[in-house]
Amino acid sequence: MKILGILGSHQEHGLNAQMLDEVLKNVDAGVETETIYLENYDITPHKYHEKNLVLDELAEKMAESDVWVLAAPTYFRELSGVMKNFFDCIRPKLVYFKENGDTIPGQFKNKHYLSITSCYVSTIENFLTGVTDESLKTIDRVMSAAGVIKVGEIVLPNTFGMKTIPNNKKELCQKCAKKISVRKIKDDSTVKRYIQLFLMIAVMALITMGIQIPLKTWIAGNFWLNYGSFTIIFFVLLACILHFMTFVKHRRR
Ligand SMILES: Cc1cc2nc3c(=O)[nH]c(=O)nc-3n(C[C@H](O)[C@H](O)[C@H](O)COP(=O)(O)O)c2cc1C
Repeated sequence: MKILGILGSHQEHGLNAQMLDEVLKNVDAGVETETIYLENYDITPHKYHEKNLVLDELAEKMAESDVWVLAAPTYFRELSGVMKNFFDCIRPKLVYFKENGDTIPGQFKNKHYLSITSCYVSTIENFLTGVTDESLKTIDRVMSAAGVIKVGEIVLPNTFGMKTIPNNKKELCQKCAKKISVRKIKDDSTVKRYIQLFLMIAVMALITMGIQIPLKTWIAGNFWLNYGSFTIIFFVLLACILHFMTFVKHRRR
């Protein structure tokens, strides 16, 4: 089993590098690790009919690893250009193109990844405004196109003046290291998602029926009023829950 760290920051020994290092040095014994610092490579786009030895080398390292740890700071509320340029250039190796121009996951399908990012803004501001969301979303979008499965996220806000990562983030990195040390079968969260869906529906139906109790004097005995009020209340609750789940989808603290 091998885990590959990919660092896309301007700083080789900055906070993202430290978080990446903390993850890699805490993986289980026997798990091989390697770090690529993207700034050390001259990454240019693939030109047709020309060999791109840098991209070939990077793709080979990615192919021989089971998990990728992608660490990149948030610049201008987006993923750092270093990491984005790497994704843009390596795209032909991540996906296959269909005749109509659509893409399907390529050679790395069913590998796993962990995302790491950071930002200057405070924990509260990041929680409320989601400064790091776009960085994580970009990584997710690229990995999803490549069929690579997400294991987790680590976010470090409040980095202004920070020189070393705080202990709580070190602990989170260590926890993630244990999680990614175990070889995973394809996407093992399908059952979990169905259980979550079942629980969501069960709780919402219970709340809806609870809300209907005081309305009994108007709706009792009338099937359509009963059905109509149930549908409206259930829909409002579902909309709230979906909005909430989208809002908290990415780690912000
Ligand atoms: C070009 C640039 C743009 C940045 N833009 C933002 C930003 O929009 N919001 C923010 O909170 N921090 C921003 N930052 C701060 C970085 O996210 C912060 O310095 C990061 O934690 C550094 O990580 P590192 O130590 O791994 O390099 C920016 C930094 C740079 C260099």
